[in-house]
Amino acid sequence: MSVWRKKPIDAFHADASKSELNRVLSKWGLTSLGIGAIIGGGIFTLTGIAAHDHAGPALAISFVLAGIACTFAALCYAEFSSILPVEGSAYAYSYGTVGELFAWFIGWNLILEYMMGATTVAVSWSGYFEKLLHLFNIHLPLWLTNDPATAAEKAAELGVTAPSFAFNLPAFLITWVVTAILVKGIKEAATTNNLIVVLKVTVVLFVIFMGLFYINTDNWVPFIPERFIDAKGVGHFGWAGIGTAASIVFFAYIGFDAVSTQSGEAVNPKKDVPFAIIMSLLICTVLYILVSLVLTGMVKYDQLDLKAPVASAFASIGKPWAVYFITIAAVAGLISVMMVMMLGQTRIFLGMAKDGLLPFNVFGKLHPKFKTPFKSTILVGLIVSLVAALTPIDKVSEMCSMGTLLAFTMVCVAVWILRVKEPNLERPYKTPYLPVVATLGVLANLALMFMVRIGTWKTFIFWGILGILVYFLYSRKNSHLHPGNEHKKGY
Ligand code: ALA
Repeated sequence: MSVWRKKPIDAFHADASKSELNRVLSKWGLTSLGIGAIIGGGIFTLTGIAAHDHAGPALAISFVLAGIACTFAALCYAEFSSILPVEGSAYAYSYGTVGELFAWFIGWNLILEYMMGATTVAVSWSGYFEKLLHLFNIHLPLWLTNDPATAAEKAAELGVTAPSFAFNLPAFLITWVVTAILVKGIKEAATTNNLIVVLKVTVVLFVIFMGLFYINTDNWVPFIPERFIDAKGVGHFGWAGIGTAASIVFFAYIGFDAVSTQSGEAVNPKKDVPFAIIMSLLICTVLYILVSLVLTGMVKYDQLDLKAPVASAFASIGKPWAVYFITIAAVAGLISVMMVMMLGQTRIFLGMAKDGLLPFNVFGKLHPKFKTPFKSTILVGLIVSLVAALTPIDKVSEMCSMGTLLAFTMVCVAVWILRVKEPNLERPYKTPYLPVVATLGVLANLALMFMVRIGTWKTFIFWGILGILVYFLYSRKNSHLHPGNEHKKGY
């Protein structure tokens, strides 16, 4: 059946040699890109709600659990990226192993990961930007800094009339700033990103080392607060709460896989991409566990701020200058997450367009001077900016996590299939203890998926059906592997 046709591995190598993208990214450049994608809204914002409502001081255990699920996936991603050093990430890997429809479906889910990830961070950025303005005594109206649903909710909380129109303008504008940088080119993007990553890691280290002196170990007792069910029937704390918190803070780890979308721009992708995937995840896991311990040690979990928990922890110990520092770093740091997410999205589209599954004119053509896929970058910017301006953050962040978790699961399966079917393929990096690691990866990622809300599942299923329709109405017929389309392969 044509839906199972596979792209030959040799074709990937041919694509890589034809790539017009500039190879400018080194091993540490790629790692920096990974860290730039990882540290963001998750640690700066979601830690608050995860500890306050679900895990208490045991948030550190949630970070360990989510980190373990990601590590299994990262080890599998690393092997794939060493075999297939082309842009396209999990999409490309499964096209070479499992088959076209499976690959298409992965690509379709990666849209959720990258586009909804960028959208979530745009909204999160808007929140921090607003906080920054407050520090300088500037106050924007409710209707200009929130989507319509959130604006109505906040108006109700404040006891004022809900605005008849609302648009998250900062989220909209920041998306266009990032879009402009990306259209101009990867080299500029990578340089800007490196600067921001340094600032972001500095602030995280600052939080850990400065915070250490303000830990009150009484705040860690009880480490796992006793479970209870609230009036709405929602459970909190206990081991189940630690699991729920793990599914929330999973978002904080998303991004290490973005390194694999940059293979086309790496100097030595076969070795450096696996290195960067694992190294960036490792560094961030250690940082996250320490930050969560410090945070819950500084402030009693039920007193944590929900919007800017890290910055507010320092306000509570009477260090206003630290609040400025952390808020400014978050505002800058979140931009780099958006940058890598949107960059990753356009590179996945590029991979799909080169295979004929998406229109090449829109998603594949590079700018004659900048050598970037400018049309698709602008299209991604348009969608991200509009969704960010009009949708509540929890809806988009959960969709992002679902798409990512499914993609991770598929990668674990696909790397295993390839090992069995093509045992002699050259593998510069090999996943250790493969059947065990892949199986645990599948189980851990599926378990996290089942902890996500039912409403999100409905949207997720709708998205999946839409993807399959697009495949059968457009992609299958236009695929370069479709009989009669062979002549298009040269693009
Ligand atoms: N991991 C990224 C963040 O926390 C997506 O913002």
